[in-house]
Amino acid sequence: MTRGGRIKISDLLKSKETGKKIVVKGWVRTKRGNKNIQFIALNDGSTIHNIQLVVDVPNFDESTLKLITTGACLKAEGTLVESAGSGQPVEVLVDNITIYGTADPEKCPLQKKGHSLEFLREIAHLRPRTNTFGSVLRIRHAMAFAIHNYFNDNGFKYLHTPIVTGSDCEGAGEMFVVTTLDMNNPPRKEDGTIDYSEDFFGKQCNLTVSGQLEGELCAMALSEIYTFGPTFRAENSNTPRHLAEFWMIEPEMAFYEIEDNMDLAEDFIKYLVKYALDNCIDDLEFLQKMYDETLIERLKSVIECDFIRLEYTEGIEILKNSGVKFEFPVSWGLDLQSEHERYLVEKHFKKPVILTNYPKEIKAFYMKQNDDGKTVRAMDVLFPKIGEIIGGSQREESYDKLISRIEEMGIPEKDVWWYLDTRRFGTAPHSGFGLGFERLLLFVTGMANIRDVIPFPRTPKNAEF
Ligand code: 4AD
Ligand code: MG
Repeated sequence: MTRGGRIKISDLLKSKETGKKIVVKGWVRTKRGNKNIQFIALNDGSTIHNIQLVVDVPNFDESTLKLITTGACLKAEGTLVESAGSGQPVEVLVDNITIYGTADPEKCPLQKKGHSLEFLREIAHLRPRTNTFGSVLRIRHAMAFAIHNYFNDNGFKYLHTPIVTGSDCEGAGEMFVVTTLDMNNPPRKEDGTIDYSEDFFGKQCNLTVSGQLEGELCAMALSEIYTFGPTFRAENSNTPRHLAEFWMIEPEMAFYEIEDNMDLAEDFIKYLVKYALDNCIDDLEFLQKMYDETLIERLKSVIECDFIRLEYTEGIEILKNSGVKFEFPVSWGLDLQSEHERYLVEKHFKKPVILTNYPKEIKAFYMKQNDDGKTVRAMDVLFPKIGEIIGGSQREESYDKLISRIEEMGIPEKDVWWYLDTRRFGTAPHSGFGLGFERLLLFVTGMANIRDVIPFPRTPKNAEF
């Protein structure tokens, strides 16, 4: 079916119907030629590849042709023919051109080739029209689709958890407050702090840092659920791997022990990487050529290997014995930094690693406590070039253990009474994890900065578009 009165370029390039009259629409990538014949490379975002429009100059109005510059949008009517040149199977001999929108070459930033990725971030409103961002956005779409496919095929139910919540799942306090109070003159309690009981929700609310807690409530009914939505963290980390607004996929499963959780994480991520190789190869080849010559090889190697499963304590020993001088210290009880994670994955094992049984002090309150009294059944999946791509755990299902941990950590019971109720009524062993969608995309696209795998990144001091 043709929609929008045109055939998509992805379909046209596969078409065998040479001799047929067709209509294409898109944005001009380049124009070259001479006073007799000109070649326009047109792209409509349906594929990385352009269709070549062949223009017999004497048949056209000179003033129209002059307006066809990089970035302009046009409709071309003509005949599909086998291409005379190499590089493309078919091209269009143009009869008629309608210009929808010009792009003054003096002013349009897309005119110049070879802009840096840093500069393109400053023109995030136009960068989707570059080859790079076309590829990234198509892969982003394909991965989102594959995620739903995977869970649907495996009987998981897609659950929508709230974006505005009163809870701090990770307990890190890195939350954006949501309020309708007059911030110039907020109501105050006697001790001078803001009185949120007068706020819209009658209590302090924030943008969610994770859908997990609500996910757990529904896993205790539907047994296997997943969330896939935006999450927000007001952490002031200006790194190539952190966003203030990112998307997270969080499956939560009743009856899964930590081993089942690891099996699911490994199978899931391999499925996604394979899906990208099977469905996005043109875009991957482009990104490999432009940015990362070992991209496809790295993607294949992840599918083919068994992930290493290692305890935190063993990981610390390996790092201590490595002889490497890390910027951050390594000792039992400290959280791992990305340099440590990458050493384990890239240098020591040369494979993805699932690290388990972390010290309880560096992990969230909900993780299942081990009998040693020191560690919890956490699991982080560590990936080459990325470090942590997944964080998860088996959950503490015992009411008594959970309540004592909550008291130990000073979490007010009145904030989590509803969560505790799942442990009082029909509790069950259960597990789950969170995959950072943009971290996955960093891995799959080979891009080096997380700002380049989301259309409009939110980072400290940056929310222009
Ligand atoms: O390890 P995290 O904080 O775990 C959770 O939020 C759990 N509630 C997940 C769960 O068990 N359901 O975050 C999970 C993942 C990280 O491994 C990382 O991939 C990603 O989310 N992530 C970020 N991605 C981009 N920018 C940030 N600031 C991120 N923080 C975490
Ligand atoms: Mg984590």
